[in-house]
Amino acid sequence: MTQAPVVFTVFPGDCDTFGHLNQAAFLAYFERARWAMLAEGPGIGLFEREGVWPAVRRATIDYQAPAYPGHSLRFQQIVTRLGRTSFTMRQIARRVSDDVLIATAESVFVCVDRTGAAVPVPAGVRAFLLGSLRPEAGAAHRVPVHGVELALDDQGTGPAVLFVHGYPLDGTLWRHQAGAFPGWRTLIPDLRGFGRSDAPDLGYSMATYADDLAGLLDAIGVDDVVLVGLSMGGYVAFEFLRRHRPRVRGLVLVDTRAQADSTEGRKGREMAMADARDGGALFIADQMLPRLLAPSAPDPLRETVRGMMAAAPVPGLLGALAAMRDRPDSTGMLPTLGELPTLVVVGAEDALTPPVDARALAKPIPGARLVEIPGAGHLSPLEQPEAFNRHLQEFLDRVQAPPATG
Ligand code: MLT
Repeated sequence: MTQAPVVFTVFPGDCDTFGHLNQAAFLAYFERARWAMLAEGPGIGLFEREGVWPAVRRATIDYQAPAYPGHSLRFQQIVTRLGRTSFTMRQIARRVSDDVLIATAESVFVCVDRTGAAVPVPAGVRAFLLGSLRPEAGAAHRVPVHGVELALDDQGTGPAVLFVHGYPLDGTLWRHQAGAFPGWRTLIPDLRGFGRSDAPDLGYSMATYADDLAGLLDAIGVDDVVLVGLSMGGYVAFEFLRRHRPRVRGLVLVDTRAQADSTEGRKGREMAMADARDGGALFIADQMLPRLLAPSAPDPLRETVRGMMAAAPVPGLLGALAAMRDRPDSTGMLPTLGELPTLVVVGAEDALTPPVDARALAKPIPGARLVEIPGAGHLSPLEQPEAFNRHLQEFLDRVQAPPATG
């Protein structure tokens, strides 16, 4: 069962003297949204019936944009972790009229009995929470891997294509690729620290990301994949090749590079870490957005990408920045990729990893094919999905073709 979002209208009495929805009133809206979720689901008395009470242990709110009287806000509730006695819920409030991200909240609850002692989450509550572990879109679920749970969108049947998103994004980057290749199974995880996956405080590196993906494949019984990585996802792909090469039957490198960070680049990562700590995900989103998309990208797409970035948990941002700063150089691997069908894709207007870099990436890989996608910046699968999917489909057809004989 999936929990439907709840919509509230902002009332003047909840606003401060500047006319904004007041932050304390906003906390109450999040609380009301959780009650509405119960009321519209198993009933407001669920916890009472089960003899426990969900006590809030920690609540964090990121206020991203102001809301004013008369705005309708849509609250989405997602359970991101379900432990023995506790669970974590992430809530996302967006303005209904234009989908702008207004605020996100994360709350940790512990089930307690009447004496206040922590008790196991009862079966009835567990069943309800498990329902909301699943996001709106069809085939996504969470898979326990190496002590965290990773969200995975898993669609279609056939040989698998594994899509790895970039920074500071999540699997919804690949929304136009999910289930879009008949005869193939599309696997789209959120890396740890992003999207609907857990975001632990520590434990991030390229090796961890790569081993998480291998663990994910083990958990769902998939031996090998065509591996598609965009930007940081490409760095993860190189690490996956280093550690799990027999599991890769084809490689697609999208808007990425093989080099490690320069000394200056490493300093930039440290500065971005400070920015993420001080300003949160929205600050990082606003910093990155102008360089991510082609100049002609429409406003709704910009808002979608901004919202995706602004929803990233800060521990995930810090972890990814450290992982990118410390990643090894992979240029030496390129000439050894000859037996692996490889496609390099770049947006013609990519300002971060421009076509000249993509040419330099493709050149040393024996037999690699390079395609440049007009009208796309750094996020070609999202900006020009038709062209991207056409090239990927052609590549998948080649990977699947029987070997030439004679
Ligand atoms: C990405 O899109 O993943 C990042 O721009 C990669 C990077 O910062 O090196």
